[in-house]
Amino acid sequence: MSTRSRISARISAISESATLAVDAKAKAMKAAGRPVIGFGAGEPDFPTPGYIVEAAIEAARDPRFHKYTPAGGLPELKKAIADKTRRDSGYQAEASQVLVTNGGKQAVYQAFATLLDPGDEVLVVAPYWTTYPEAIKLAGGTQVSVVTDESTGYLASVEQLEAARTERTKALLFVSPSNPTGAVHPREETVAIGRWAAEHGLWVVTDEIYEHLVYGGAEFTSIATAVPELGDRVVILNGVAKTYAMTGWRVGWLIGPSDVVKAATNLQSHATSNVSNVAQMAALAAVSGDLSAVAEMRAAFDRRRQTMVRMLNEIPGVLCPEPKGAFYAYPSVKELLGKELRGHRPASSGELAELILEEAEVAVVPSEAFGTPGYFRLSYALGDDDLVEGVSRLGKLLAEAR
Ligand SMILES: Cc1ncc(COP(=O)(O)O)c(C=O)c1O
Repeated sequence: MSTRSRISARISAISESATLAVDAKAKAMKAAGRPVIGFGAGEPDFPTPGYIVEAAIEAARDPRFHKYTPAGGLPELKKAIADKTRRDSGYQAEASQVLVTNGGKQAVYQAFATLLDPGDEVLVVAPYWTTYPEAIKLAGGTQVSVVTDESTGYLASVEQLEAARTERTKALLFVSPSNPTGAVHPREETVAIGRWAAEHGLWVVTDEIYEHLVYGGAEFTSIATAVPELGDRVVILNGVAKTYAMTGWRVGWLIGPSDVVKAATNLQSHATSNVSNVAQMAALAAVSGDLSAVAEMRAAFDRRRQTMVRMLNEIPGVLCPEPKGAFYAYPSVKELLGKELRGHRPASSGELAELILEEAEVAVVPSEAFGTPGYFRLSYALGDDDLVEGVSRLGKLLAEAR
């Protein structure tokens, strides 16, 4: 019998996505008849707008879209993405600098696979979205975390980044608005960080998927546009999922310098080939249309955000800075850890989240997976009534902690 392990070391090292795991557990409990309220989902609770769905139906009827098309994306979609990017963030790119991917996730993976050699370091601000470390690791790179907390609203400073930079640092990952914290970097700080990266010859990979979800006077700034000094060392990641309630359609993209896009397209040509043409045509309708759908969602998210943050901060032991973007709150529950609650003494946010799911039938994502233990991520992309009921249940349970 072979003594070789069945699963490669590279793949064994990948953890299950914590956010999807919590969501799956909550859904299974719901299916078993338990009235679970889930704050785990990272997706808008709205359906995809009708005109986008119609475009897909029409595409499905057209034999042209029944066949393979260019691996890097339909030319008309690449052009529309370049135009939309100019419209929304001011960044000028040619259609040839766009690669259409299977969701923003594939763009993340392919960006790092294309840029990193073994040993190359990437600065990642923690709390970070769970997918980044895995994508960096799979690409052979090394993640260097720059840890932030609620005291700065989860924003990293140039000084912190500089302290983490070494000779091996190749790239900075910049995510604003952020998943999981909802933090949004003000323009001046974005510019300062971008100039620092440019000065040290670093690449900047910027994830702009939440560009349209900012609230209460906060503004989205594209580091790529605001810091022209970055020149051709910037890669933009984006997609239709969050802006147009299209998480299930799986269309994202990467915009970068021609050599990077060509190399990433080569990779994709062997991995997945073209994204489903029907989904690409839906994405074409989305990015060439207006932004009224996201304006409606933004108004609802903003209302829920304010309700959630207020209610969370009323719970003793919970501290929630105001998220300025995306659709997540990231409260600290550090004060509650180690306290007695219904016969248990949860010592980590993971243990506390499990107890909450069992006792209050509320699903939150524990923060271990985001690189900063002691917090929860709660999505406010769910109906207002469920939101109020869920946070009330949470408050009632946590009030018992002694
Ligand atoms: C910060 C961030 N980037 C990228 C994505 C990828 O989205 P998708 O693959 O659904 O396009 C997500 C999804 O949760 C995200 O939160």
